[in-house]
Amino acid sequence: MDTKNSTAAGSTPAVADTKPILEVDGVTLQYKTKEHLITATYRVGFDVYPADRFVLLGPSGCGKSTLLKGIAGYMKPVEGAIRLKGREISDPGPDRVMVFQEFDQLLPWKTVKQNITFALRNGGKSDNAAEADDIAMEYIQKVKLSGFEDTYPHMLSGGMKQRVAIARGMAMEPDVLLMDEPFAALDALTRLQMQKELLQLWEDTHFTVLFVTHSIEEALIVGSRILVLSPHPGQVKAELNAFDLNHENVGTKEFVEVQQRIHDMLFADRILEDEIQTGDKG
Ligand SMILES: Nc1ncnc2c1ncn2[C@@H]1O[C@H](COP(=O)(O)OP(=O)(O)O)[C@@H](O)[C@H]1O
Ligand SMILES: [Mg+2]
Repeated sequence: MDTKNSTAAGSTPAVADTKPILEVDGVTLQYKTKEHLITATYRVGFDVYPADRFVLLGPSGCGKSTLLKGIAGYMKPVEGAIRLKGREISDPGPDRVMVFQEFDQLLPWKTVKQNITFALRNGGKSDNAAEADDIAMEYIQKVKLSGFEDTYPHMLSGGMKQRVAIARGMAMEPDVLLMDEPFAALDALTRLQMQKELLQLWEDTHFTVLFVTHSIEEALIVGSRILVLSPHPGQVKAELNAFDLNHENVGTKEFVEVQQRIHDMLFADRILEDEIQTGDKG
């Protein structure tokens, strides 16, 4: 196993002596269609440690969602391996729960509470109705939706629906919570609010989260560590420590410098891509 020296810059929390909970090791993921073989990610490697807020950052189409599908167990790597707690992932399981961008990920015919209890019972977390209710209410309170437990999803705003999806994901107490651009469809203010609340939840329980975004600012706010991916096919460009950056220092010199560095990294690829495309046409 390779030991990556990714946390050199100081104050990353208690990861030094622990084993990674999730290992993504030289992973290539491909889609086979009738006519094409599409390589979505190429030899991507990273380790996620307990209580990491690990962010996959890269432009649209670089394979972020595909990586999450691989980790969730919906796709098998054609090269490399994905291991959870040392065991190679072969199937989907309740130890990895996904939160998506779409507001329609809740079951519309079930209330807020029922959406959570249904997941708990289906995922084998609880076979006792009263216990499932208690767990659901605990997480409903954590995401500030007390009073809405008997409400149906269509009565909720986008932000509230995402809170329910997060509560449901957290209630399952997965080894890793997988979040695929969960705030991307929200308006800017709600998005900021949700980022803050996610960090607050993390302060409470130190869960492990793998968070996907194409927003540099969001990556720096939410992430403790950030993996920067190149455009299609996604390859690792860099791994950065962002533990000291959050919504309180947006706009400060320190924040803007890192933001600019990542921007330049991603922009360098754009220029290269443009040149290649121009070359093709000419
Ligand atoms: N079901 C699919 N079939 C074929 N190609 C796909 C499929 N899903 C995604 N792709 C391709 O794989 C690449 C990575 O997609 P995706 O993982 O969705 O990127 P991201 O989440 O970073 O925007 C893209 O080129 C996309 O067109
Ligand atoms: Mg995606």
